[in-house]
Amino acid sequence: MHVLVTGGAGYIGSHTCLELLNAGHQVTVVDNLSNSSEESLQRVSTLTGKEIAFFRIDLLDQLGLDAVFRDNQFDAVIHFAALKAVGESVAKPLAYYQNNITGTVNLCDATQRHHVSHFVFSSSATVYGIPRSLPLTETSATPMEEVTNPYGRSKLMLEYILKDWQASQPQTNVALLRYFNPVGAHESGQIGEDPNGIPNNLLPYISQVAVGKLERVGVFGCDYETPDGTGVRDYIHVVDLARGHVLALDKLAENPGVVTYNLGTGNGYSVLEIVAAFERACGKKIPFTFLDRRPGDIAVCYADPSLAKTELGWVAERGIDEMCTDGWRWQSQNPSGYTTIAGS
Ligand code: NAD
Ligand code: WQD
Repeated sequence: MHVLVTGGAGYIGSHTCLELLNAGHQVTVVDNLSNSSEESLQRVSTLTGKEIAFFRIDLLDQLGLDAVFRDNQFDAVIHFAALKAVGESVAKPLAYYQNNITGTVNLCDATQRHHVSHFVFSSSATVYGIPRSLPLTETSATPMEEVTNPYGRSKLMLEYILKDWQASQPQTNVALLRYFNPVGAHESGQIGEDPNGIPNNLLPYISQVAVGKLERVGVFGCDYETPDGTGVRDYIHVVDLARGHVLALDKLAENPGVVTYNLGTGNGYSVLEIVAAFERACGKKIPFTFLDRRPGDIAVCYADPSLAKTELGWVAERGIDEMCTDGWRWQSQNPSGYTTIAGS
C-alpha cells in the first residue's frame, strides 16, 4: 500500500514508518516538525535502505494538504499528527483543539475528497478516564467528564468525530488504536523519543537522569492503593506499537467499518518497578524523591489486549527490560536527541 503518515517524523510515527517500509509499503510523510526533526526520517531511510517522501506541511494548511493528496494516490492514512503535552493542553486548550480537532477534520476532508478508504487514528488509553474495573477492554466506559484535560478530551471527541464520519461514508474504514504508555526505542539506537524541554513522561525523565541531564526523578505520589504506593501503568515497547499499525492496515483491507483496539501488554508496572528496571538497563543508580500526587493522575491503568490478538494477530513481544535497554541505548548514544553530534 502507499501510506500517508501524518506526524511521521515524531516518536511513534518514525518507528511506524520503519515497520511499514520493512513490511513492503510505500511511505509518504506530512509533518510540520513542530515537535520533531526531519533527521528521524533520514535515519529511518538509512536503517531500511528505502526512501520516504517528506512534505513539511501543517494539517491546518488545507491547500498544502490537498496538493499532497492530489499528487499522490494513497491507499491509507495513518494519522499521528497532534499536540500531546497534557499540562500544556490545560494552559492552551484552544491551541490543542484547533491543532488536534481542526487538523483531523481537514485530514478527513482531504481523505474523503481523494477517495482514500483506510484511516488509522492514534487514540489513547486516556479516553477511559478513571477505570471502573481492570483490565480495560475496548467496551469499558469512556466518560468524557472523567477525562481530566483538553488533550485527552480532544482524543475522545475525535473518536466520536471519526465514527460519525465513517457512518456517513460506509466505504471508509477506520481503526481507532488506543495506546497505553509507549516507551523504548528501535534496537539500533538510531531513532527514539526526543522531547522538547523537560520531559513530562516517566521514561524520558528517568533516562535523562541516567544520562546526567537531570538530577533526580520526582515520583508523583507514594500513597496510591498499589503494592508499593506508586502509580501503575501498562508500558508498551514503541516497536510493538508500530507493528500494531501495520497489522491494523491489513485488518482495514477486510472493510470492517470502524474497529477499536487497545494496544498494550496487559501488564502493569509501578513507578518504582520502572526505576529499578532502568537501573538494571543502564547499570547506574537512579536517584528519586517522593513528591505529591500529580493532579489528574489515576492509580492503576492496564489493558486487556486480547481483542487485538484475536482480530489482528498482534501481541506485544518485548518486555520491560527490553523497553528500558532499548530506551537507554537511544538516550546514551544521543544524549541531546537528534541534535546530538556523532561522537559527542
Ligand atoms: P510526537 O510529538 O513525537 O509526534 C507527533 C508529530 O506530529 C510531531 O512530529 C509533530 O511535529 C507533528 N504535528 C503536530 N501537529 C501537527 C500539525 N498540525 N500538522 C503536521 N504535523 C503536526 O508524538 P508521539 O508520541 O509520536 O505521538 C503520536 C500520536 O500518538 C499523537 O497523536 C499522540 O497524541 C498519540 N499518543 C501518544 C502517546 C504517547 O505517550 N506518546 C500515547 C497515546 C497516544
Ligand atoms: C506514568 C507514571 C506518573 C513522571 C500520559 C498521558 C496519556 C498518554 C501517555 C498520550 C504515572 C508517574 C511520571 C514523573 C512520575 N499520552 N510519573 N514522575 O500519565 O500514564 O500518561 O502519557 O496520549 O494521555 O496522560 O504517563 O509517563 O506521564 O506517567 O512519578 O516525572 O509515572 O504519576 O504514575 P501517564 P506518564
